[in-house]
Amino acid sequence: MATQRGGFTSRLGFILAAAGSAVGLGNIWKFPFEVGKGGGAAFVVMYLAFCFLLCFPVMVAEIAIGRKTQLNPVGAFKALGYKNWAIVGYLGLASGVLILSFYNVVAAWAFGYFVEMLLGNFDIGRNFSSFTQDWITVGSYSVIFMAGTAYVVSKGVSGGIEKAAKILMPTLFVMIIALIIYALTLPHAWDGIRFYLVPDFSQITGKVVYSALGQAFFSLSLGMGALITYGSYVSKNDNIVGAAASITLMDVGVAFLAGFMIFPFVFSQGIETDGGAGLIFVTLPSVFEGLGEVLGVIVGALFFLLLSFAAFTSTISLLEVPTAYMVDEKKIPRKKATWIVAIFIFLVGIPSMLSTGSVDALTHFVNLPGAGEKNFMDFVGLIASDTFLPLGGFLIAVFTAYVWKKENFNIELANGDESIKGSWLQSYVDFAISYICPLLLGLIFIITVMDNFFNVKILTMLFG
Ligand code: TRP
Repeated sequence: MATQRGGFTSRLGFILAAAGSAVGLGNIWKFPFEVGKGGGAAFVVMYLAFCFLLCFPVMVAEIAIGRKTQLNPVGAFKALGYKNWAIVGYLGLASGVLILSFYNVVAAWAFGYFVEMLLGNFDIGRNFSSFTQDWITVGSYSVIFMAGTAYVVSKGVSGGIEKAAKILMPTLFVMIIALIIYALTLPHAWDGIRFYLVPDFSQITGKVVYSALGQAFFSLSLGMGALITYGSYVSKNDNIVGAAASITLMDVGVAFLAGFMIFPFVFSQGIETDGGAGLIFVTLPSVFEGLGEVLGVIVGALFFLLLSFAAFTSTISLLEVPTAYMVDEKKIPRKKATWIVAIFIFLVGIPSMLSTGSVDALTHFVNLPGAGEKNFMDFVGLIASDTFLPLGGFLIAVFTAYVWKKENFNIELANGDESIKGSWLQSYVDFAISYICPLLLGLIFIITVMDNFFNVKILTMLFG
């Protein structure tokens, strides 16, 4: 069985693959614009606190469930003897399919921008909306991106996922450092750093707190069983808590570093920091243009290649979840399973691809009482990443603490790491998974649903 499913060949391989899942568009694209909207450093402080205090214990729980059962999320809950809890696994599958369906489109933009930068087409930033409307071009890039992802996943865990991560993650790290060094030499770079690092706590509102929590959760790939799946390929001799700590540190580290690159870029051009989703796609090309023909092409292409690599190791993990389900539960050979799932998700993503300008009905898809008008892509994001993930995280925490039970959870953690027994770290993880995580994640879920779908502002009601 184990040989048929495959597994990571080393602890480092697992850590890099999981960190590859975590490090993605969320870190390099979404984190800086959330920081920009959330008033800078105050958001960063909260994000860091949530990653370590709240998300890290959930990550440990996911990996432990995976390693204990050596199965995909649906199979894992069943194998622990709780058939009804398989619903959490199905929720995870649905989240994975939906998230990948639109994530692949944004990844396609990043990859498309890489090509445009190589061609020296700096106008692409000003033409961002015509670019996203051009569904033939975006569609072609997204076919390429999805096919690349499927190719790696079809090669299996050690021969595909682990191998890709071992090459891409160090490369990503080198690229980001090179870009930071360059960014810091630009005029006004240090104003950007000040905005980024000096907190103004008056900027913190209820909304900022909950978007920091949502961002931390998404960024660490939690709540849909991606880490249950990766955990299922981890050896019984590996230390789970230590691995989770390394993964969290790498993810937070890359997000944190991304700020040192983006804000100097943005401030060097005197651009507003609250540009939202367009911060990278609209503003950065003109920054690169300012560097002149040769340097602009090099730095611009390097940046969007970095973004594409980061996205790629994440799409791999998103595709792996439903694929593992098909392999374990439906007994379909990996190669076939991968391509079936990839094609299906690509099809699910077509309306998202068409919802950024090309089809009116999808561009103005819904008008929600609280969230206002959303295009199809943002609507899917709202459902899958803002709503399903915290719900999934809540259920995973409750399951671990009260159904599977802390004793069994702790036994699994001690496999490969005797020293964890009775340590303060274990006490904290147990405490968080029993109280802090269920409470905060449950609250986030309720607040998000009430706010977006019913326009009931619980936070404003409580804190004014
Ligand atoms: N964490 C990735 C990012 O920051 C996205 C991602 C990959 C993800 N796999 C996931 C998010 C699983 C939630 C669940 O871009």
